[in-house]
Amino acid sequence: MTTEFPPLLGYADRLSVWAGETVAVKVSSYLKGHYTARLVRTICADPNPEGIGLTEASVASEFSGSYPARIQPFRPGSCAKIALPSESAFPKTFTLTAMIWPTRLASGKQVVFSIGKADSGPGLMLGLAEDGRPWVAARLADGDWAEVILKGPLGERRWTRLSVTVNGLTNTLTLRARNGETREKSQLVADKPVALSTEVPDSLIIAAAHAPGSRLNFNGKIEGPAVREGDFELDEFDQTQKQGALFAQWDFSRDIPSSRIVDIGPYQLHGELVNFPARAMTGSNWDGSEMCWRHAPDQYGAIHFHEDDIYDFNWDTDFLFHVPKELQPGVYGIRLEQEEFQDTVPLFVCPPRGQRTARICVLVSTFTYTVYGNHARPDYDPSWKKKIEAWDAYPWNPAEYPHYGCSTYNFHSDRSGICHASHRRPLFNLRPGYLTFGANACSGLRHFQADSHLIAWLEHQGYDYDIVTDRELHDEGFSAIAGYALVTTGSHPEYHTPETLDALLQYRDQGGHLCYLGGNGFYWRVAIHKENPSLIEIRRAEGGIRAWASEPGEYYNAFDGQYGGLWRRNGRPPQALVGVGFSSQGRFYGSYYRRTPESYDVRFAWMFEGIDDELIGDFGFSGGGAAGFELDRYDHFLGSPANTVVLASSENHNDTFVVVPEEKLTHTANAAGVSDTELIRADMVYFETPAGGAVFSTGSITFCGSLPHNGFKNNVSGLLGNVFNRFLGVR
Ligand SMILES: [Fe+2]
Repeated sequence: MTTEFPPLLGYADRLSVWAGETVAVKVSSYLKGHYTARLVRTICADPNPEGIGLTEASVASEFSGSYPARIQPFRPGSCAKIALPSESAFPKTFTLTAMIWPTRLASGKQVVFSIGKADSGPGLMLGLAEDGRPWVAARLADGDWAEVILKGPLGERRWTRLSVTVNGLTNTLTLRARNGETREKSQLVADKPVALSTEVPDSLIIAAAHAPGSRLNFNGKIEGPAVREGDFELDEFDQTQKQGALFAQWDFSRDIPSSRIVDIGPYQLHGELVNFPARAMTGSNWDGSEMCWRHAPDQYGAIHFHEDDIYDFNWDTDFLFHVPKELQPGVYGIRLEQEEFQDTVPLFVCPPRGQRTARICVLVSTFTYTVYGNHARPDYDPSWKKKIEAWDAYPWNPAEYPHYGCSTYNFHSDRSGICHASHRRPLFNLRPGYLTFGANACSGLRHFQADSHLIAWLEHQGYDYDIVTDRELHDEGFSAIAGYALVTTGSHPEYHTPETLDALLQYRDQGGHLCYLGGNGFYWRVAIHKENPSLIEIRRAEGGIRAWASEPGEYYNAFDGQYGGLWRRNGRPPQALVGVGFSSQGRFYGSYYRRTPESYDVRFAWMFEGIDDELIGDFGFSGGGAAGFELDRYDHFLGSPANTVVLASSENHNDTFVVVPEEKLTHTANAAGVSDTELIRADMVYFETPAGGAVFSTGSITFCGSLPHNGFKNNVSGLLGNVFNRFLGVR
């Protein structure tokens, strides 16, 4: 057994399903024999023994049983593949060229072009040698390789025109490179024929090699790759008089939202992208006159390839789960077990399409879960394993398995930001019992596991609830949540499309009751890929708390052409939807709220019934307090409705808390024009809408972590119960 791969892992083709529909489950096992699969319902995903602990229920299912174990491989690295039909006979003498912008020089051989056969490998590779110098290798008729390497290294993140001419008559290879700093040319005459002059290649790959097992992926941008008949000097590519010799030229500025690359040459040799490299990237001719690729596509003819791009493992299906229509909506797991190992593939089961089985709808933030999928945290420390073992927590951490593809909170190996995310692969941090922060005194949970505090509370208090996720909300819009008496988020509904925001706004304004039980919600704009809807794009544009920064000129999404980044920069600050928006972040610590004088108004007596405390939530399993880590505040300037009432505000945050960058103007001034200290707070707010609905927001990401405190008997639980009961019309 290898330690490079956890022995038993699975994923499903979808994270959520309407009851009555089907899920395909894919499993890879490095163990011999059979694994078993069964269905569980997840009540609490927090393994902290001081709390209620991991809680689940077994559920009978048609797929329960034993399946043969098999290894399913996956192969990171993006590239473009072009099939060469036999009628498009390769010219006897040709020149291959592209503009390249390498981002990881001297990290091993990297291939820009590979021409060859799918079964027998490459006949010609053009790219960079181990040390980053321009390189070409051609297979000769007897199987030997002829190589040419130029002298000068290329600059990283500098555009270079690279070309090779293969003269099949004289068996000459001519390698050329030119950029603002260097111009080089070197020639080799082989003593044997070049294989490509006698063999007919069946495929051309851009940014990787044909070689099975080692694809020698290129890291960086490629623009305007082309094949021309004849021998060209580099300068001649800038002229038009020899255009008639064009064999193929791929224009990456066409069909940018798709996975197709378009050949504008005579043979229409269109290709397919593999593993979703980044498109709508600035090209060598981008001059800053346009920021949006839709307005000047000719300046966006580059694709950024990465050796570690991987978003859809494309594993074969092991079994199908036909979710029965009568299955109670909820949070489920497909439990895989073999020897002492197990894995749990999460599945959020919604009611049957078009139906409701409860009056409460929990909106599960699957877009946010996916965007954080396999977040390899820089603060991960192997010493956490002691706690993981003691708590019987989920054992695998993405920081130890980066080859499974990291999250959009991580960098590629070339230090460019990861801007694509997908759940069609095992996501270690989307498992019951996974610890995000292993060194904290609290449970240290975020996302799926933290949201299970709310699920556990609903179960304990005896509320019936349905599940709808971002996926259904995006696809179906308002109709996915229409008719519920109450829609509630979890701890961190951060990532949204225009469709999900529209649906929530419509629900609110048509008299719905909306609870936002988190912090830093409704923050980033994301786009969904039209061909592969499990693929999400995020451009970390302009400002905000950013894990990395999009490059200038690359703020517009490739998937939908819209301006990426914060919703605040897109005319929709979160305050306008839920009354509060992101204001401050610190380390994973929680403090408490103090009730405001307004909260004692008789109009809110129902909300605080049974609560004598002035301080709310000075306890909890997330950060030790209900107001912590990521804090949102009321701001009328940013759209908090005029009738918003601040019921409680947090205070006493430790000195790790800072004001978010989008609020800062200078080293001393912020946009609100008050002291920074005043902006370091969570506001708990309430407002009613003209149609008879209402919104309750907590403005803190750690709020739900306080619900299970003291066996669910506490003032956070009491307060939320009062709000829910009012919204449900129970009292
Ligand atoms: Fe976040």
